[in-house]
Amino acid sequence: MTEHAVPAAEFYTDEFAADPYPAYARLREERPVCPVSSPRFDSYLITRLDDARAALTDPRLSKDLYGPGDHYVRIFGPNSAALNKNMLNADPPEHSRLRRVVSQAFAPRRVEALRPRVAEIVDALLDKIVPHGRAELMGEFAIPLPMMVICDLLGVPETDHEPVLGWTQVIRTSGSSDRSPEADRAAVQQAQLRLRDYLADLVRRKRVNPADDVISALVDACDNDEGLSEAEVVATTFLLLFAGHQTTADFLGNATVALLTNPDQLKLLRARPELLPAAIEELLRFDGPLPVASPRIATEDVEYRGVRIPRGSVVGVVINAANHDPAHFADPDRLDLERGGGSHIGFGHGVHHCLGVSLARMEARIGIGTLLDRLPELRLAVAADELHRLPAASPFRGLLELPVRF
Ligand code: HEM
Repeated sequence: MTEHAVPAAEFYTDEFAADPYPAYARLREERPVCPVSSPRFDSYLITRLDDARAALTDPRLSKDLYGPGDHYVRIFGPNSAALNKNMLNADPPEHSRLRRVVSQAFAPRRVEALRPRVAEIVDALLDKIVPHGRAELMGEFAIPLPMMVICDLLGVPETDHEPVLGWTQVIRTSGSSDRSPEADRAAVQQAQLRLRDYLADLVRRKRVNPADDVISALVDACDNDEGLSEAEVVATTFLLLFAGHQTTADFLGNATVALLTNPDQLKLLRARPELLPAAIEELLRFDGPLPVASPRIATEDVEYRGVRIPRGSVVGVVINAANHDPAHFADPDRLDLERGGGSHIGFGHGVHHCLGVSLARMEARIGIGTLLDRLPELRLAVAADELHRLPAASPFRGLLELPVRF
């Protein structure tokens, strides 16, 4: 790695967590392909939209973190390795084999059939909140909504929602508690192990008692020509459970804050509800929940904008920086729900493009739309700069708490 690498610690500040967009603008402008050094591994950040799209479809940038080089363990450590050997960390044809088995369940037509159930969950959550005049929207709305939807789809029994939510939240909020880093790591590791054991047991139960749900379909694929192993079924279930609620929950929180801190845009959306689908896309562009795409590995020396990225390097495509690229979005730091044209990469790009995109859009449209309808006086209960956020080192951009009044 070149001596001009930026230490990763420079990004791990409260200031960056509160507002990373000025730093992204500097990177995009001055060092669009920027080497970053950290104690565990060095990487290259890509921040312009054209480069981001190219990188996300570049066959020389591999997602196979389990091949030679043991990249998964190098980047994330050994603990969660078995749980994450799924489509997100594989290249074609492995990737296609693992994705094909579940892609049907998330196809637009199948997702559309879930609309009444999603609306019912949204209403039930809001019924509990409305009488109180105040709420903590992450814990009472943004997290349980996608969690309940994905648990329903997977076939996680309702009686198990609470422990599953507990484990996933320990993983999600890693680094944000008062625990020492060692205690925090131990808590995350324990939550991952519990979740793995729980999912492995659930998969076994579905084999005995199959139902009309995604885990049963995966178990079925174990026994036919798709040739999925039981470990792959567990790892796929973990990915769907986690990807299926974490990003959507953080998005619902970020989107609500963006609207409440841009009252002209909130007013516009209330006046013209038909803008909702476009508004959801703009809100995702404006402040997405997955700031950096999951890591890619250079399988040979590659060059982007004259910067040599040596073989074996980790490459991070900074989605939230690319989505504010002024070459594609005029006045990119402004929330503009009527912004036409320019397509963001908030759901990724290329073969790993979000599998749950239709579901995420539906949950966001129903969730945000109903929230605004039922809480006409919705406002933040604290100043925007006092909101507690996930730490800057988190792979996710989201809130720990979202206190509101209405
Ligand atoms: C992949 C974003 C909701 C399942 C991705 C990727 C992004 C993304 C950017 C690509 C990651 C990469 O290339 O490294 C989002 C956002 C969501 C959301 C912003 C909500 C607003 C969902 C939901 C599901 C889901 C509801 C439901 C199961 C997946 C899966 C992948 C994925 C399985 C991996 C696809 C593959 O590797 O082929 N998502 N996602 N996501 N997402 Fe989503």
